[in-house]
Amino acid sequence: MRKFGLIGFPLGHSFSKKYFTEKFARENRSDCGFELYEFPHVENFRAVIEQEKELEGLSVTIPYKEQIIPYLDALDPACERIGAVNCIRIREGKKTGFNTDYLGFKQSLTTWLGDTIPNALVLGTGGASKAVQQALRDLNVSFLLVSRSKQGEQLTYQDLKENTTWMQDYPLLINATPLGTFPQVEGMPELPLEQMDNRHLVYDLVYNPARTRLMQECVSRGGRVKNGQDMLELQAEAAWKIWNKA
Ligand SMILES: NC(=O)c1ccc[n+]([C@@H]2O[C@H](COP(=O)([O-])OP(=O)(O)OC[C@H]3O[C@@H](n4cnc5c(N)ncnc54)[C@H](OP(=O)(O)O)[C@@H]3O)[C@@H](O)[C@H]2O)c1
Repeated sequence: MRKFGLIGFPLGHSFSKKYFTEKFARENRSDCGFELYEFPHVENFRAVIEQEKELEGLSVTIPYKEQIIPYLDALDPACERIGAVNCIRIREGKKTGFNTDYLGFKQSLTTWLGDTIPNALVLGTGGASKAVQQALRDLNVSFLLVSRSKQGEQLTYQDLKENTTWMQDYPLLINATPLGTFPQVEGMPELPLEQMDNRHLVYDLVYNPARTRLMQECVSRGGRVKNGQDMLELQAEAAWKIWNKA
C-alpha cells in the first residue's frame, strides 16, 4: 500500500484528505491511501515516521510548516529560501521538504493577471506569506509587507490609514492571514476601506467561504477579486508530482 497523509494540529475538516481520496478513487489508484496524522507537539513527528514505514509523502499544515524543518534531511532550494515546508517526500528513509504553496500561488496569480501584475501589499507574515513573497520576488513584482507589529520595513495597518500613498501605489492586496475564514466570516484585515476603489485587486488565500468579507468589500467598490481555491488545488497537484517524480 502506498501511503500519503497530512500532519498538523488540530486537523478538523481536511481539504487534502478529501482531495486525494477522491483523486485516488477517480484514477483507480486502489494501492494508494491518504491518512490524517494529528499530533499536539512537533516532536511526535518522529514516532509517526517510525510507525508508518510505508509513508511516501506528507502534506504539512498549521502549526508545523516552519517547526518541521529541523526534523528533515534536506530542503528543496526554493523551499530553503522561503523557510517554510508544506510538502515532504520520503524516499528510503530520507525526508525532503518542498513548498507547494509557492508553486500553487505563483501559477494561480499569473493565470489570473497574466504578465501585468501590479505592486502588491502582502497582509500577514506567516508561512503562507513567505511562500507568496518568494513567488512575487521570482515574478519581479514589487511588494510591501503589512503586519500587526512594526519590524524593519514592514508597514502596519495604522501606517496604511495614516498615509494614503500605500493603498494607491500598491493596488494588489494579498490576504495571507486567516482572517475571514469560516466560521469567523465577519473577520477581515484592518484595511482603510475608505481608500479602496475600482483599481484595487484582492487575492485572498482564504477559500472557505468562496467570497470572503474582504473580497465583498472590494467587489462592492468595483474592484476584482480571486480566492484561494485554485491555489489549493494547484498546490495539491504539485505535491502529487513531487511524491511521484522518478
Ligand atoms: N489557498 C491555499 O492554497 C492556501 C495555502 C496556504 C495557506 N492558506 C491560507 O492562508 C492563511 C494564512 O496561512 P498561514 O499558514 O500563514 O497562517 P498563520 O501563520 O496562522 O498566520 C499568518 C499571519 O497572519 C497574521 N495574523 C494571524 N492572525 C491574525 C489576526 N487575528 N489579525 C491580523 N493578522 C493576523 C499574522 O501576521 P502578523 O503577525 O505579521 O500580523 C500571521 O503571521 C490561512 O487562512 C490559510 O488557510 C491558503
